[in-house]
Amino acid sequence: MDLFEWQAKELFGKYAVPITRQVVVTTAEQARAAAEHLGGPVMVKAQVKAGGRGKAGGVKYAATPDDAEKHARAILGMQIKGLTVHTVLISEAADIGAEYYFSFLLDRGNRTYLAMCSAEGGMEIEQLAVEKPEALARVPVDPVAGVDEAKALEIAEKGALPENIRDQAVDVIVKLWDVFISEEATLVEVNPLVRTPDGQVLALDGKVTLDDNAAFRHGDVHDAYRDNSATDPLEVRAKEKGLNYVKLEGSVGIIGNGAGLVMSTLDVVAYAGEELAGTAGKGVRPANFLDIGGGASAEVMANGLEIVLSDPAVKSVFVNVFGGITSCDAVANGIISALGLLEGRGEELTRPLVVRLDGNNADEGRRILAEAGHPMVEQVDTMDGAARRAAELAATGSGA
Ligand SMILES: Nc1ncnc2c1ncn2[C@@H]1O[C@H](COP(=O)(O)OP(=O)(O)OP(=O)(O)O)[C@@H](O)[C@H]1O
Ligand SMILES: [Mg+2]
Repeated sequence: MDLFEWQAKELFGKYAVPITRQVVVTTAEQARAAAEHLGGPVMVKAQVKAGGRGKAGGVKYAATPDDAEKHARAILGMQIKGLTVHTVLISEAADIGAEYYFSFLLDRGNRTYLAMCSAEGGMEIEQLAVEKPEALARVPVDPVAGVDEAKALEIAEKGALPENIRDQAVDVIVKLWDVFISEEATLVEVNPLVRTPDGQVLALDGKVTLDDNAAFRHGDVHDAYRDNSATDPLEVRAKEKGLNYVKLEGSVGIIGNGAGLVMSTLDVVAYAGEELAGTAGKGVRPANFLDIGGGASAEVMANGLEIVLSDPAVKSVFVNVFGGITSCDAVANGIISALGLLEGRGEELTRPLVVRLDGNNADEGRRILAEAGHPMVEQVDTMDGAARRAAELAATGSGA
């Protein structure tokens, strides 16, 4: 999960990384009040999870509360890289003597952590990395040894941070390492890290990515900082139900057991859609990824169907199950009870369901479904055949 700048810096504050005082607001009036409260000049900063906010006009200096209100009014609602600005950060403006760059990140390629440090911060760091790579120090960090003062000094020296702020820089680097490790982040970036004319070192911007796989160990932080405004509402609901769902652009709903099977189901349906193209099937593609996992109980199946069918773009649903530990008769019963559960919730099945059962006890599973004889459920024995049928039904919009 990527954090907003205000969240990243709030986190920095908890670890005593020096930041400027800040207030996050959603209206121009609140921006004025925040500026009055902070007293003195402030920066008005668009809060979107994208880089280059300054260049897009989303970071402005305000000498007075009047200016803060004016800038906030202009910035709120602005589009930056396709993202709408809903909040702005009002932060004390610092006097800047020099701007540096600092980050810790996960270096997947080299299977280690990496510190990056440069005395030339502030500008586009990607550009610096390309045009002047020698000015950007890359220092591998042993995950077991971590970053102590000696290591921090090595990083600061390689990044050519000036000597008169080394002690402070070392202190900040050690604290940022603490943030990185304690919060299980995959990125902690400060650009710019600045020196004020009176010799203080401050983090004026912050970019933090938390590792979603570690969310269960950091429930509070992840819950507090989660922002669903930019996430598809169906994905949010699916997550609440513990389902692995990703919304896609097509019209064939997909439910399968096991991520690998679902991935290949997407391919097979996309291929079937292509084959149809030119006849009735212009642009028939998968509408989602949904892995209901191993168990595939009636309730999980019902939740899955409910999510997939809540997508108005879905014209047919392909349920592709390969019975392993869970046998197909259990899955067939699961599907039938799921349809019952859905009807009980007042959601009648109005779009056709194509079911392919294979693997452990497939015959019995197929028999159970056939016997139930649900008018909207159709069985096809092979994965390719079922994909074609589901694509066809999505193209023509007709029921089973
Ligand atoms: N609190 C502050 N006080 C003084 N100057 C600031 C402050 N915050 C930002 N600035 C100035 O504005 C510039 C841009 O700010 P910032 O780094 O937060 O945004 P950005 O780099 O444009 O956005 P992004 O990090 O999303 O690419 C900084 O390099 C710095 O010169
Ligand atoms: Mg920046």
